[in-house]
Amino acid sequence: MSKIRKAVIPAAGLGTRVLPATKSMPKEMLPIVDKPAIQYIVEEAVASGIEDILIITGRGKGIVEDHFDYSPELEQRLAQTGKEDLRDQLRHIAELANISYIRQKETKGLGHAVACAKSFVGDEPFVVLYGDGVILGEDPVCAQLIRAYDEFGVGAVAVREVTREQITRYSSLKLDHIRDNYFRCTDMIEKPAPGKEFSLYSILDRCVLPPEIFDILEHTGVGAGGEIQLTDAMRELAVTKGMTAVAFTGTRYDMGNKLGVLQANVEVGLAHPEVGEAFRAYLKELAKSL
Ligand code: UTP
Repeated sequence: MSKIRKAVIPAAGLGTRVLPATKSMPKEMLPIVDKPAIQYIVEEAVASGIEDILIITGRGKGIVEDHFDYSPELEQRLAQTGKEDLRDQLRHIAELANISYIRQKETKGLGHAVACAKSFVGDEPFVVLYGDGVILGEDPVCAQLIRAYDEFGVGAVAVREVTREQITRYSSLKLDHIRDNYFRCTDMIEKPAPGKEFSLYSILDRCVLPPEIFDILEHTGVGAGGEIQLTDAMRELAVTKGMTAVAFTGTRYDMGNKLGVLQANVEVGLAHPEVGEAFRAYLKELAKSL
């Protein structure tokens, strides 16, 4: 059994790339068909054996908390109108995991958001699931990383090859192949200028970190984009102890940009048991005029 029981979901970013939808609502609450992005992420953590989750919130905190809480008035109405199935679905959301919340008072970056989880995490390794990255698949990415942590005993990051254009906005990793989809990561850089990248492998949305990350974050200065970058803190782990990079399986949707939101809704919509068939027929008809 893995020692990893806790997860942190940073969801306090300003979401400027999806404005104005995120003016008064966190992007983590943007729906993919009928569920907010953050619910898919909590479900992934739970399916990976996580019991305790901390959501780092910013403005719009109330609606995230309400979503994972009971909703007595609504549940009563659904029961009265014979919609017990829907009532049970809503109750299930509130019982998914032990979820607590902490507020990141200033949006100083992902590294700063993770540092807010120090007292929740204590002295244990933990998972970070970025609140705007939904990854769907048979084998939850969080579980893929936990297996890597359990095998190699060092922090693990979810990675994928990205384009030369994307890498300048993401991170770039120095990797040596171990076996299968496992690599050893010995260095990394956030938002590399063209020519400064180690490889086209980038960290996407998930990592498992040892508790030492909190000491490192205390002295991590402001990095790319004027923010405290988690990558800069993880770099210290990678250089001193090494980390494992896992080329993960799953379909990733970036809910932090408009095209990602559309792709998520189309693909999940097509597979949706209730509306999938009708949506497919609609898209086929529409495609004729494109
Ligand atoms: P991003 O850098 O994609 O989020 O962070 P952002 O700052 O909202 O993006 P813009 O404004 O569209 O460029 C990745 C994850 O980290 C969280 C975000 O909510 C997102 O889930 N985050 C980021 C925080 O919790 N706090 C921060 O200070 C920054």
